[in-house]
Amino acid sequence: MADDRVNYDEISRVYDEVRGVDRAVIQSLLNGVDLDASCAVLDIGCGTGNYTDVMQRLMQARITGLDQSEGMLAKARAKNGQIDFRQGDAQQMLFAGASFDFVYMTDVIHHVTEIGRLLGEIARVLRPGGKVCIVTQSHAQIGRRPIAAFFPATVAVDTARYPDIPQIVAAAAAHSLAFVREERLGEGEPTLYGQPFLAAVRARGYSMLRLISDEEYRRGLAQVEAQLAQGDLAVPKAGKTLIWLQK
Ligand SMILES: C[S@@+](CC[C@H](N)C(=O)[O-])C[C@H]1O[C@@H](n2cnc3c(N)ncnc32)[C@H](O)[C@@H]1O
Repeated sequence: MADDRVNYDEISRVYDEVRGVDRAVIQSLLNGVDLDASCAVLDIGCGTGNYTDVMQRLMQARITGLDQSEGMLAKARAKNGQIDFRQGDAQQMLFAGASFDFVYMTDVIHHVTEIGRLLGEIARVLRPGGKVCIVTQSHAQIGRRPIAAFFPATVAVDTARYPDIPQIVAAAAAHSLAFVREERLGEGEPTLYGQPFLAAVRARGYSMLRLISDEEYRRGLAQVEAQLAQGDLAVPKAGKTLIWLQK
């Protein structure tokens, strides 16, 4: 659910220091569609354009990025001047009906207030037969996030904020977006948490750290600092879920 404490104009200042693309997600997005130069793609909640930029470089299709934060879009436009980046709310898009062949969104759906309106809009702007990929985390994956060991309160915050996979699939079906398949990427893969993670935590650059109490945040930060003072920490990734839909 949208929350005033999560301000992406402000987060845009640190976002690219702490977040980049997940190559496995890019590979799945590319594998899941068959697009040529005549096709149009929409990246909803494109943020600073990390995924939009890489997708534009790797695809022949024309790509548009949509985000509601001008701060995030300013970073995106500076990154790639060949992409049409538009400001707007995904729940009320200005695009004409049947404009896109493929619509995807990465780490956005938990910010959207009404997912029914979002999915209705996606169905409207998609061409018949067009595909959708929603990249998110399931409630089970949220419970297994390494950050939860330091900030346990984030689990309740994010299981309340994120719609779980069956809820997304049901909301999509109500708007004639048929479920195609679910992919889970990266679960249990080892990764290293080091100084970039600490910098992100210090900047409260992960939105859920803005939704826990200051006391919970300070307690967790002290634990992260103590742990990383001994060197990088090897942890298993929680992984991501990709929900594929088709109109
Ligand atoms: C966690 S960031 C993800 C950015 C990008 N997709 C990525 O993976 O790096 C979430 C983004 O969704 C955008 N957003 C949230 N709700 C939105 C809405 N209703 N319409 C458009 N953008 C939205 C925010 O402004 C923010 O840039």
